[in-house]
Amino acid sequence: MERFSIIKGDIVKAKTDAIVNAANTSLLGGGGVDGAIHRAAGKELLAECETLGGCKTGEAKITKGYKLKAKFVIHTPGPIWRGGKWDEESLLANCYQNSLQLAEQYDIQTIAFPSISTGVYRFPVGLAAEIAVREIMSYLEVHPKIQNVVMVCFDDDTKLAYQNALEQYQKAHT
Ligand code: APR
Repeated sequence: MERFSIIKGDIVKAKTDAIVNAANTSLLGGGGVDGAIHRAAGKELLAECETLGGCKTGEAKITKGYKLKAKFVIHTPGPIWRGGKWDEESLLANCYQNSLQLAEQYDIQTIAFPSISTGVYRFPVGLAAEIAVREIMSYLEVHPKIQNVVMVCFDDDTKLAYQNALEQYQKAHT
């Protein structure tokens, strides 16, 4: 489905209406993609985040994009991988569903995701990619208003994992 693409790059450069931040529950910034987004957006992003009162794992909250090209940032804390028996898979699925639902509520038509939870939170990237691709593709099938979703991978291994997951999904759904 050409409405979903996988690229290698830096999500702060994405020209989509919104970019998704792999945040933590405080929403007060951090390292990884969270740190990159806050650095690129500027201090006003943190100031707005401070008014949000945090965010539960798997839920999503939206702010402006400030100095970013993207008009909006959707912040969603992914689950920390604890071995797979602590609801991690469904919480990660919730991150994608809730981010896409919030995007639609704000009439956002194009959105870029990072590989949520597969860095500091150590979620196995192959499993995370399967979950992300399944949630994105199934959402797009029933929600025409979202025109384009881009998965922005920071390195080759991650990009390969998402490409493999998309191939498996397409094989199973043609
Ligand atoms: N653009 C796109 N992807 C990026 C970027 C970037 N600029 N920087 C890092 N990434 C990738 C990582 O390589 C990884 O594949 O984002 C993915 C998610 O990694 P993390 O940023 O570590 O996020 P996560 O695993 O969800 O952990 C979240 O880390 O930064 C803190 O505050 C954050 O506590 C939270 C935790």
